[in-house]
Amino acid sequence: MAIIERVFSGVQPTGNLHLGNYLGALVNFVKLQATYNCLYCVVDLHAITVPVPGGPDELRRNIREVTAAFIASGIDPRKQIIFNQSQVPEHAELTWVLNCVARLGWLNRMTQFKEKAGKDRENASIGLYDYPVLMAADILVYRATHVPVGEDQKQHLELSRDIAQKFNNDFSESIAAHGHGDKFFPLPEPVITGPATRVMSLRDGTKKMSKSDPSDYSRINLTDDADAIAQKIRKAKTDPEPLPSEEKGLETRAEADNLVGIYAALAGKPKSEVLCEFGGAQFSGFKSNLVDLAVAKLSPIAAEMKRLTADEGYVDSVLIDGADRARAIASETMDAVKDIVGFIRKR
Ligand code: TRP
Repeated sequence: MAIIERVFSGVQPTGNLHLGNYLGALVNFVKLQATYNCLYCVVDLHAITVPVPGGPDELRRNIREVTAAFIASGIDPRKQIIFNQSQVPEHAELTWVLNCVARLGWLNRMTQFKEKAGKDRENASIGLYDYPVLMAADILVYRATHVPVGEDQKQHLELSRDIAQKFNNDFSESIAAHGHGDKFFPLPEPVITGPATRVMSLRDGTKKMSKSDPSDYSRINLTDDADAIAQKIRKAKTDPEPLPSEEKGLETRAEADNLVGIYAALAGKPKSEVLCEFGGAQFSGFKSNLVDLAVAKLSPIAAEMKRLTADEGYVDSVLIDGADRARAIASETMDAVKDIVGFIRKR
């Protein structure tokens, strides 16, 4: 099998997608489809590593909502592959093999597990501990070469590379004997995103925008209508100074930096250009412009998401079709892995 350049990324169906998810991930996913074949996965197997607050009905709703967000943001489900992880059993199957490649010592270093498990580590699920190996399987089962991820997932992506490398080394003779040359899995590379990948809370510019912040005014949800968007931006925290005309002037002003970053990302231009235009302006004037821009960019997405989530039949059909196409690739990898490892299979 030749190595094909391919993008894979996953989003957890945990509800309440917001501007941070859009600017940090989705905008990038949309851009990458111009140059690569892409697989965008709703990672429902990852979502059950912690209890789902609203239970199975909420999980189903969240899976459809992320799917709708992918489509509404501009990912073309006919050209790219949009699917949910649990419909492609090869993800779980490859995870087992990779569990036997990955080392306990490697997983013990994962900072996200430590954060999510908290003090009561004995009571964390084994799935939560194994989460990064499942993530490695997601990527490697498609032998993906490029993975757009945020800052918080970099360590997991590095682990995926380590697992791929160790598999390639452990089985090097068998890999060569089966005609795959000197390596079977490509080492996946991170794709770094543009400006404002880190969108901060509208109430506190030092905290990340988050679905779990108790104040809904801290975030712009992808399903917010024009009025809600306008209200939240008008109430967003600022400071009393006018905007600086150069980026250096934003360094100690977290809230100003965040709003300028959001404007820049929505407009698709660098912050320096935004400051050229608005340097010296008061926040009230800048915010009116930001409201207009945010409403113009986001309210069509909210409307499309509303339309799509009302059409379960269509959304489910996208996922089924995507899973069929994903599986064609994944099963080919899994067959090769079985041969390399030494399993017997039907031919
Ligand atoms: N862990 C990722 C997150 O929480 C989601 C994810 C799962 C993922 N599998 C992936 C991202 C594979 C990139 C590639 O954001």
